[in-house]
Amino acid sequence: MTFDTIIRGGTIATASDTFACDIGIRNGRIAALGDNLGTAGEIVDASGKLVLPGGIDSHVHISQPSGPDIVMADDFASATRSAAFGGNTMVLPFAMQQKGQSLREVVADYHRKADGQCYIDVSFHLIIADATDAVLGQELPALVHDGYTSFKVFMTYEGLALSDIEMLNVMSVARETGALVMIHAENYDAIRFLTDRLERAGKTEPHHHATSRPIPVEREATHRAISLAELVDVPIMIVHVSNGEAMEEIRRAQQRGLKVYGETCPQYLVLTEKDLEGLNMEGTKYVCSPPPRDKASQQACWQGMQQGVFSLFSSDHCPFRYDDPKGKLTPKGRTSFRWVPNGIPGVETRLPILFSEGVGKGRISLNEFVALTSTNHAKTYGLYPKKGTIAVGADADLAIWDPNREVTISQSRMHGGSDYTPYEGIAVQGWPVSTMVRGKFVVRDGELAGTLGAGEYVPRAKSDYAKPGGA
Ligand code: URP
Ligand code: ZN
Ligand code: ZN
Ligand code: ZN
Repeated sequence: MTFDTIIRGGTIATASDTFACDIGIRNGRIAALGDNLGTAGEIVDASGKLVLPGGIDSHVHISQPSGPDIVMADDFASATRSAAFGGNTMVLPFAMQQKGQSLREVVADYHRKADGQCYIDVSFHLIIADATDAVLGQELPALVHDGYTSFKVFMTYEGLALSDIEMLNVMSVARETGALVMIHAENYDAIRFLTDRLERAGKTEPHHHATSRPIPVEREATHRAISLAELVDVPIMIVHVSNGEAMEEIRRAQQRGLKVYGETCPQYLVLTEKDLEGLNMEGTKYVCSPPPRDKASQQACWQGMQQGVFSLFSSDHCPFRYDDPKGKLTPKGRTSFRWVPNGIPGVETRLPILFSEGVGKGRISLNEFVALTSTNHAKTYGLYPKKGTIAVGADADLAIWDPNREVTISQSRMHGGSDYTPYEGIAVQGWPVSTMVRGKFVVRDGELAGTLGAGEYVPRAKSDYAKPGGA
């Protein structure tokens, strides 16, 4: 048998197993796993390395409009390049509806931005901001049918927040169409109340972003989202969970047999609200929602992953430049935390942070790492088994890791569009040295080897995770 490429001598890990064998790749797919596979156009030596399913980051924001005079730091080229250097082979950004926009228009707009501009594969979630009858009755079901099988709704943010009845209506469409609803759970009115009160007291520095949306804001919304989903009998994914109280709401729901899933992110494992207290405006570098909390919350997020309450670990990559009036230092943002764009870069550092802090420090197994960063994303969002595993027939989306390489995270080694990393100075052990999408290197031995436009759009199937529990 002959192959296009054989990856030889590596240790393979999937979500369930770790084993040593070679990988034969033909026509972009894994064609064989075994020893002495035969000849190939190219033999890649992976001895001493780990070969893992490429990371799938199912929560990233790219080229999203973020308010007047604010510009996101990444376009599809820079975001997918950065992702590839971080060991990812696929990202799932959001196609965000703005009030008054038809969803078809939204989807066409994001395809215009992404088509021909990606280094790795992409698929889109929708964001529903305008839950009109036309959107819910016609557009959304048609788009789910076409492979946009998940959508996010927001319980906060001006222009995005849905009321409870709108949430219920969107959830009903998800139930009817078999789509999965992702929920940003924070109480909008509570944040507005606290923000107004802080501003009246002159408390406007960046760290009050955290004070304005404390844990009860998130816990209450999480509880409410779960209750609404229970009424409709529809599965939901609570995204970017930051603390133990929200995590316990999800755990309780799961223990009652509800299909409620949870996601957490690197910022909730290694940052705290203290980081928002930096000198001058440095704290804006860490402004994201929900905000990083405290050490106990970090512990709880680890537990959530260890105990299976959280099935996904995503970056929530949402990059703005720091030293830029169109980024974190917007003129209005200098007057109050209220106006600082929310979000931080992280698509390139997600995997090394979890590998080092999780696998390296014995908090999770290598197989759990693969599940949390790749396999579960593919399963949750209708990409499995094409994506998210190393198996015969799957796409040859692989990351080759040097488990011993020691790296201090710094902006100088990042490949995205932002001008800072919130993880500056964190020392990690283990780094993805090569990334391959459908059998072609995108990053090889730390150098860009892919071509812009080689990344493809992947429509998604409906997920088993979205099937109602009590049907
Ligand atoms: O602050 C954040 N997380 N910005 C990104 C948008 C979101 O809510 O996920
Ligand atoms: Zn969100
Ligand atoms: Zn203060
Ligand atoms: Zn997000």
